[in-house]
Amino acid sequence: MTLQTEHPIDTSPIALASDSSNDLDPLWRSVEREMRARGNDIHIPISFAFAERLCDAHPEADRLVVRVAILLHDTGWARVDESKIISEGFGTNWRQAQIRFEHEVKGCEIAREVLPGLGYTEEFISRVTDIIDGHDTRAQSHSIEDSLVRDADRLWRFTPAGIALASGWFAQTPAVYCRRLRAEIVPELITAAAFQMATADLERSEALLKTALL
Ligand SMILES: [Fe+2]
Ligand SMILES: [Fe+2]
Repeated sequence: MTLQTEHPIDTSPIALASDSSNDLDPLWRSVEREMRARGNDIHIPISFAFAERLCDAHPEADRLVVRVAILLHDTGWARVDESKIISEGFGTNWRQAQIRFEHEVKGCEIAREVLPGLGYTEEFISRVTDIIDGHDTRAQSHSIEDSLVRDADRLWRFTPAGIALASGWFAQTPAVYCRRLRAEIVPELITAAAFQMATADLERSEALLKTALL
């Protein structure tokens, strides 16, 4: 069932998001190298901005857990065999490919390496790694924080930047990829806030990219 909220939902283009906080700058810097893998330096900042909007819509969630988990969730791609990312990670049965499990395990490892030195407690780090572990391969969400990370992880795909990168990974035209987003990814969204953001973005992106013609 879709998780509703009584709080306002911002569906404006994510390029208009302004993040004035700089509390996580040391964490971003500590994983700069991991951001160079598999489009992370595009995917993660965009998904991070969506995560902040989802936290605004769900103030009951622990905002710092959500922000740190989305920031680190895919860093593990930097420690898996890069040649397999496209061949296995995006082939048929991509969600259960061995390399998907590996990037989750490696992401937890990276979280455990970088977070203690930045002052995060063991209890906090475990809450973050509980979300990173299985973020792609586990069917169920464990908590509101887990749900917001899962939705933010998907929302970037509906933006023109997400369509540009991911349609290439799956070797599909933008129009075919957009149809797939609507058919397969929209139904996976957990919160009503994410559903509204995704459908608003998909409509804008399809119009901009002229997918009815191309
Ligand atoms: Fe992932
Ligand atoms: Fe991701």
